[in-house]
Amino acid sequence: MGGLPRARMTTAPDPGRPIVVALPKGRVLGQAIDLFRRAGYPLDAVEQETRRLVHECGPIRALVLRAGDVPTYVEYGAADIGVAGRDVLEEEERDLYEPLDLGIGACRMVLAEPIDRPVDLASHMHLRVATKYPTVTRRYLEERGVAAEIIKLSGSVELGPLTGLADRIVDLVETGETLRQNGLVEVETILQVTSRLVVNPASLKLRGALVAGLIDRLAAAARDRREL
Ligand code: PRP
Repeated sequence: MGGLPRARMTTAPDPGRPIVVALPKGRVLGQAIDLFRRAGYPLDAVEQETRRLVHECGPIRALVLRAGDVPTYVEYGAADIGVAGRDVLEEEERDLYEPLDLGIGACRMVLAEPIDRPVDLASHMHLRVATKYPTVTRRYLEERGVAAEIIKLSGSVELGPLTGLADRIVDLVETGETLRQNGLVEVETILQVTSRLVVNPASLKLRGALVAGLIDRLAAAARDRREL
């Protein structure tokens, strides 16, 4: 018996339909809208109607989702392309084409600890690290030969050390304000993060000209934005 085909398609790409784009809600959304506008794809409907999740914007149908779900929609073909952070993409291996670093959503994934309770690795204490990113965290700790229990959280990770749940955290830092306001300091940067364009491989094959045109225009807009 043959195995299942690797490409997961739940939605057959109808050549007449708009290109479906999965966008992450939250901080990166505004930057993504700005980049699409520079590329010649105004997403005005997304800006105007903040509670709607599907927006028709000319040749583009924009979906606004949880950042961590963008690769899932694109991998299964429910969206042709998406905007996903490197943090999310490093967490899970996916069958996606990743043609472009968009340069938006820049931040860092860091290891941090309380300023007044630094961890002494030489003491061989039982170390607990709280994070939304268990895979990246495990890989990072293993590379350094540090034994630790990883505690998976869904948000507000900085609370971990404040409450005694964890000794350290691995989380994203943009301005550093959240760390500072919660008495935490960075120990080490683990990953430089930006948002990438991800593309469903079957969409690229079946809707080649349209998707490739969009990639080219976004690449030019990302280049212009970097040069500003
Ligand atoms: C992110 C991240 C940090 C914070 C960092 O959280 O997880 O908590 O932003 O930003 P800063 O360095 O500019 O302070 P987000 O606001 O996405 O919410 P979350 O805690 O629910 O993940």
